[in-house]
Amino acid sequence: MSEKKKVGILVSGHGSNARAIAEACRDGRIDAEVAFVGSDRPGAGALNWARGEGIDTFVVDYLKLKQDYRQRGRFADRRLGDEALDGIARLNRIGLAGYLPKRLGDALPLVASEVLLIRELRRQRPFELLCLAGFMRILTPYVVQRISPDELHPRIMNIHPALLPSFPGTDGYGDTLRYGCRVGGCTVHYVDYGEDTGPIIGQRSFAVEPGDSADDVRRKGLALEHELYPECVGLHVAGRLALRQVSQRNGTRRLCVFMS
Ligand code: GRF
Repeated sequence: MSEKKKVGILVSGHGSNARAIAEACRDGRIDAEVAFVGSDRPGAGALNWARGEGIDTFVVDYLKLKQDYRQRGRFADRRLGDEALDGIARLNRIGLAGYLPKRLGDALPLVASEVLLIRELRRQRPFELLCLAGFMRILTPYVVQRISPDELHPRIMNIHPALLPSFPGTDGYGDTLRYGCRVGGCTVHYVDYGEDTGPIIGQRSFAVEPGDSADDVRRKGLALEHELYPECVGLHVAGRLALRQVSQRNGTRRLCVFMS
C-alpha cells in the first residue's frame, strides 16, 4: 500500500482551520494526512488539540528568542547567530533583503527564528504542502526559498481573512468592517515573498449586514474558511492546481489554474 502524502500546518492560535483540514483528511476529502503542527507560540490552543490527536508538534518561540537576543545582545547559541547573519548576507546578495526589517537588530532575531523553523521543517521531510493557518508571522524569502524553491510549483499555502488583494495584513475582517464594505470574504493563496501577494487559489464571500459587529463578520468568515481551506488543500494534493505565468500591462503575474 502506498503511504499517504503528508501535510504540515503552522498556527499561532486556536487552530480552527487546522482542525478543519485534519477533519477533511480523516473523511477523505483530502487524500493526505496531517503530519505535524508547528507554532511560534508555546501556548497556542492548536498545539493541545494536535497532541491529543497524536499529531507531531513543535514550537519555535519567536518572541522569546527576540527578547533573549535583546537582553544579551547576542544569541545563547552562537552558531545560530552566525547562520542568521549568513542568511541575511545571502538575501542581500540576491537582492531580496528588502523583505526583511530594516534594522539589523530586528532582522537578526527574525531570521534566527527562521533558521530554527527550517531545522524543524527539515526534520519533518518529506511533506507535500505546508499550510499557514492563522500563523501570525511573515515568512521571509529565507524560509520560502528553502521550503518552496520552485516558483511555478509552490508548496506553501495561506488563508487570509479578506478578499485579496483588498486588506492584506493581520486584521482582514476588522478592516472589512471599518471600511464599510457590504461584502467580506476569505482567500486561500500560495505564499510568495510578499505579504499576502501570492497567486490566489480560491475565495468565498459573505454579506456584511447593517449592524453586524466585528464578531459577526469574523464568525461568518470563519465558517467559510473551514470549507474553503480544505477544498484548496485537497485540490493541491490531488495535483489539480497549476500556475501559469501571464503577461500583463505592468509585468508578469503568476495565476493559478485548475486542471481537470
Ligand atoms: C483566520 O481568520 C485566518 O484567516 C487568519 O487567522 C485566523 C486563524 O483562525 N489568518 P484559526 O486559528 O484557524 O481558528
